[in-house]
Amino acid sequence: SLPVILDGDPGLDDAVAWLLALASPELRVLGVTTVHGNVGLPLTTRNAGVTLALGGSADVPVYAGADRPLIRELMSASAVHGDTGLPANELPDPQREPETEHAVNYLIRTAREQPGEVTLIATGPMTNVALAFRMDPQLPQLLREVVWMGGSTAQGNRTPAAEFNALADPHAAAVVFTSGVPLRMVGLNVTMQCVATPDRVEALQQLGTPVGLACAQMLTFYAGAYRQRYNLSGGALHDPLAVAAVLWPELLTWQDMHVAVDTHEGLNFGRTVCDLYNVSGKPPNARVAVAVDDPTFFGRLLERLSRL
Ligand code: BDR
Ligand code: CA
Repeated sequence: SLPVILDGDPGLDDAVAWLLALASPELRVLGVTTVHGNVGLPLTTRNAGVTLALGGSADVPVYAGADRPLIRELMSASAVHGDTGLPANELPDPQREPETEHAVNYLIRTAREQPGEVTLIATGPMTNVALAFRMDPQLPQLLREVVWMGGSTAQGNRTPAAEFNALADPHAAAVVFTSGVPLRMVGLNVTMQCVATPDRVEALQQLGTPVGLACAQMLTFYAGAYRQRYNLSGGALHDPLAVAAVLWPELLTWQDMHVAVDTHEGLNFGRTVCDLYNVSGKPPNARVAVAVDDPTFFGRLLERLSRL
């Protein structure tokens, strides 16, 4: 099985993504690392423990990381994810204290112990990843791959130009995109096509398990914001699609291209500028998802979650 570290800011869709990873025998979740993002670091760290307990993997260690972006001021998405980041009743408490080792040290140590083996699935702002790359400049060569939910080849969701994870730490994203690490980007241009519609939420509910019920509740809460803001019939399954990209890359269409992150404060702050036509002539630095088979993705997600 493929050793993975999950880095994120749970967060509703992060939690569903992590449950998908925990349910999948192809993956071995070595540890999870938390970052500021949807809500503050103390809450994302607690929610990590809650998610692991819910998924029956309370033994997986949690490492807390960066509590703020590198340069820009802290932002959050509690309007979409609720004040706690995991709005559902009857969630289990974390079963294990977070580790004392910092997430960045853990990332470096683990990649060095298994050079070329570890896949990092990042579903939040990339502050931890960028800090790790700065502390250990060899790290981009030591990871098997970084798969990131973030950015967009097209419009943003937090500003017209920028996706939330990119906007929440554009400088960190720029560090990672210029690092040379093998990098796949699963952005809004594909994730907004994967919507947890009412019938899909109902199917999760019908699983009748604690995981199915919790996912149904969380996605119901999430649907409110998505209906209002984006005129969708449910919440977008952003972060689960990044885990799916590792499990089933064939469900997405990939295109290698050069991606630059705009770090200039202005209209395009945090935009991932994707050179789809290679008009810059710059060599590709990322493999970008440009299409997705959404029905197959959801069918497989549901089947995996039914196993927990
Ligand atoms: C991303 O932003 C967060 O709110 C979600 O968890 C996801 O990672 C989507 O833009
Ligand atoms: Ca996230």
